[in-house]
Amino acid sequence: MSSRIELKPSPTPLNPTERALRTKNLRFGAVFTDHMVSMTYRDSGWGDAVLEAYRSITLDPAASVLHYGQAIFEGFKAYRQRDGGVATFRPEANARRFANSARRLAMPELPEDVFVEAADALIQQDRDWVPPALGESLYVRPLMVATEAALGVRPAREYLFLVIASPSGAYFPKGVKPVSVWISDDFVRAAPGGTGDTKCAGNYAASLVAQRQALEQGCDQVVWLDAVERRFVEEMGGMNLFFVYTSGGRTKLVTPKLTGSLLPGVTRDSILKLAPELGYDTEESLISVDQWQADLASGSMTEVFACGTAAVITPVGVVKSRLGEWTVHQGETGPVAARLRETLLAIQHGEAEDTHGWMHRVL
Ligand code: COI
Repeated sequence: MSSRIELKPSPTPLNPTERALRTKNLRFGAVFTDHMVSMTYRDSGWGDAVLEAYRSITLDPAASVLHYGQAIFEGFKAYRQRDGGVATFRPEANARRFANSARRLAMPELPEDVFVEAADALIQQDRDWVPPALGESLYVRPLMVATEAALGVRPAREYLFLVIASPSGAYFPKGVKPVSVWISDDFVRAAPGGTGDTKCAGNYAASLVAQRQALEQGCDQVVWLDAVERRFVEEMGGMNLFFVYTSGGRTKLVTPKLTGSLLPGVTRDSILKLAPELGYDTEESLISVDQWQADLASGSMTEVFACGTAAVITPVGVVKSRLGEWTVHQGETGPVAARLRETLLAIQHGEAEDTHGWMHRVL
């Protein structure tokens, strides 16, 4: 497929000194590499991909994404390996989810191999932008938007697929310290039959007002409840949640089950697969707010953490709702969250054996 990517690299990439300046004190998603890959869809087919200098794009004011929001995206990371090479973590899982998101939004599917190879080409070109430190990575952001100029409400006939990349450090400004969460009862993220299990831009737009409310309540993040009973915990911001139970020497990780309104996270899935190897039991089930509060009070629930590609694993230290406030693990990072985070990062940076075949070597 690489032959289908036309290589038109920038004649003026940043020099190493400028790049080093730009990537000092890395935050998340604030700096972009020299290149991008673009590909257009029209006349019922995908054109050739082009790797070119990172640039602004032009859109017709009637482009249907600006009106009716056909926009989807993905996120995965490229990690510097111990031998100096570069590998991505489960990119084919993101390719599959991207295709699912496209189907739900009546957008054309991109073949999964094209998705992965477009990202590989960008990472290969911008290899010097992959940061070396543990916990740092090159965050890869594929996206697709409807570009057809047409105001009729129907699936567009023209689309633009792009891949951009951003060298990134910790997602949350305070690093991997536990976050405080506000359980939203005014807003829901997703409803049965909706788009909650896709990575469409609208899900994130609809979350912002609740996130702002969480900040007003003195919390870092919002926690979403199910739309029907407003009782069962679904997600935290854009991340999945895990509840850790410890009793009689056994540890069990419980995560909200995928009812259709939750995003099936790649990190969530990876934790479920890794857990048994670390001696943890797992369970996917419904967890109510009442149960969360009661199990913390009884001491059976010992930790809570969120997981996602961007922040990997983030402990939850404080939970607030209109019913009151609870502390988890004295507001500190617990041993299970810390161990899972270390285990995942070690696999991602090639420091631990990749027994699942998750790493995709790019360089
Ligand atoms: C992730 O956890 O990777 C996310 O989905 C957050 C992202 C939208 C920045």
